Amino acid sequence: MQKFFLLLCLLWAPALLAATVSSPDARIEFEISAAQGGAQYQVTFNGATVIAPSRLGLTFAELATLGEGLTLGEVKIQHKHEPWEQPWGEQRYIENRYQQLTASFLNGDEQEVFTLEVRVFNDGLGFRYHVPELIGGPVSLIDELTQFVLPDAHRTDAWWIPAREWNRYEYLYDKTTADAMHLVHTPVTLRQANGVHLSIHEAALVDYAAMSLKQERTGVLKADLGPWSDGVLVKTSLPMTTPWRTIQIADSASGLLNSALSLNLNEPNKLGDVTWVEPGKYVGIWWGMHINKNTWGSGPTHGATTSEAKRYIDFAEAHGFDGVLIEGWNIGWDGDWFSNGEVFSFTEAYPDFDIKAVASYARERGVRLIGHHETSGNVTNYEAQMEDAFTLYESVGVTQVKTGYVADGGDIVRHTPEGFKRHEWHDGQYMVNHYLRNVRLAAQHKISINTHEPIKDTGLRRTYPNWISREGARGQEFNAWGSPPNPPNHIPTLAFTRLLAGPMDFTPGIVDMTFNGLDGWNRPQTTVAKQLASYVVIYSPIQMTADLPENYQQHPLALEFIESVVTDWEQSVALAGEVGEFVVQARQERDGKRWFVGGMTNENSRSLALPPSFLSDDQEYTLTLYRDAPATDWRTNPAELVKESFTVTRGSSLKINMVASGGFAAILTPQWTGK
Ligand code: NOJ
Ligand code: CA
Repeated sequence: MQKFFLLLCLLWAPALLAATVSSPDARIEFEISAAQGGAQYQVTFNGATVIAPSRLGLTFAELATLGEGLTLGEVKIQHKHEPWEQPWGEQRYIENRYQQLTASFLNGDEQEVFTLEVRVFNDGLGFRYHVPELIGGPVSLIDELTQFVLPDAHRTDAWWIPAREWNRYEYLYDKTTADAMHLVHTPVTLRQANGVHLSIHEAALVDYAAMSLKQERTGVLKADLGPWSDGVLVKTSLPMTTPWRTIQIADSASGLLNSALSLNLNEPNKLGDVTWVEPGKYVGIWWGMHINKNTWGSGPTHGATTSEAKRYIDFAEAHGFDGVLIEGWNIGWDGDWFSNGEVFSFTEAYPDFDIKAVASYARERGVRLIGHHETSGNVTNYEAQMEDAFTLYESVGVTQVKTGYVADGGDIVRHTPEGFKRHEWHDGQYMVNHYLRNVRLAAQHKISINTHEPIKDTGLRRTYPNWISREGARGQEFNAWGSPPNPPNHIPTLAFTRLLAGPMDFTPGIVDMTFNGLDGWNRPQTTVAKQLASYVVIYSPIQMTADLPENYQQHPLALEFIESVVTDWEQSVALAGEVGEFVVQARQERDGKRWFVGGMTNENSRSLALPPSFLSDDQEYTLTLYRDAPATDWRTNPAELVKESFTVTRGSSLKINMVASGGFAAILTPQWTGK
């Protein structure tokens, strides 16, 4: 009744200056206004400002700026509850409860120039623009005015990676005060002086350019869209809708984890039956190339041979792995493959690789073959072959393909219909559309896609559940050849930054740290227990078991855990953590009763009290713990692993010790209680 009255007041107010909408629990409040003629918004959390007054608006080359000289028109507020179920995921049932405000902004002629749609959830909010058909024909977006103004930037911590640089998203996260950021990718994570944590990002990035954030003056972060090679930001026509601009808000770092905000802001599944999209674990002809034991190209140490593929398939079958990835099977890798994407064939195999024989060998053993399309960023060459490439894979029973776009930022090769060569960004509109075209075409062949060198994740897995995973950060590969490799704080940082966007194909599971005679500083800077913890901390429905098969024979305890851990979850609970310091996640297997817990720390050893409050209270559980020994040391003795078992209940008090850059992985299995 109160809400109805408020709504009437809003509708009847003669010259409406502002309107507010709050989260269902009333902690977050979002206010829009057109007070000085400029559209703007601001956000509070528990009464304190998290976003100070910030501009809204869009500029098309063909129109006056939409965002100036405006008044607020009609405002509507609705309460929505639209729960849904994920086909696979870190959480099966999604709550999806929010308050929605839609407000139209009018120009001096009382003409609506855009409607802002705002959804406020208990864990954050999203807003987007709907622009009506102000003119016909093509239009060019040349600026998005959206700001995120931080009230106290020099006292706000920020974890960020630079945008519009050559290495795309593959940078180490920097931690600075927010006023020191220049141009950064989203999601960007912020911690205000009062401990409130924010993550600014976007959802449902479709037919638009990705948003980075540029600090225009202290605390003023402005949307900065990845341009086309001709400088236009977005080529479109009206009416049009932008992606959602999102802000997650939480009292603590772990409050940011396992949020469904971004998924909730995406459209429901458009693919219908997706039972052919299958989570699971995979091994692959992969690490050998990264540590220079094998080559992608032809020659005496070519990795992707028929016999090597069969060896991996045998290993997968013996240890219950679902898939085998094979990289370097197709012609085009010889020479400098980074720079010669135009010579890749996606259908012709090297003579020492018999794709049909390998596929039927895998099929007979109940193992799936995982395909690979490295494009080296030559997207025109790939697009010309994409249909044939998926047809070939479908014909031999391949249901998952890893794609790759190794090319410097700004160096994606596109040929125009007139035959001119153009260089595009991985996060510009052209590539945003390419990545989705690839996923949609794959779906027609019942193939799932795991994109490397991708566009960042904005929750599109809800709409296209065959977009099963992606990279989009520094993964394990940097531990083979990175200078430097990923430091001890890397995954405890990713957990609260990149991983907020969605699943990551990090490829955990390295157990032999002694390759190539590298010292402790130039190889994986983790213990083996921390590699195991990664399977639970890093969410991905497909997880690689990345090391060479022969190395697992030397590390049976590690292999035992990797064999047991699952990749599809009923529910996920973040137990503890601080950005860049440590993180502990508990996840319950889908369709089962077991819980898995993974915890890890940065360069500091620490002990944590972990009450298992997520367990059922009427059960005793066997806790099987894989942890570092007291003498385990990531520089000198990384592989020493201890296994322990004991009985616990929900009321047990558990204390876990983690050595520097170490961690633990645990399985909690219910014991039969006779009930
Ligand atoms: C980079 C990918 O991230 C990696 O996994 C792959 O092996 C190489 N590109 C080659 O495609
Ligand atoms: Ca990569």
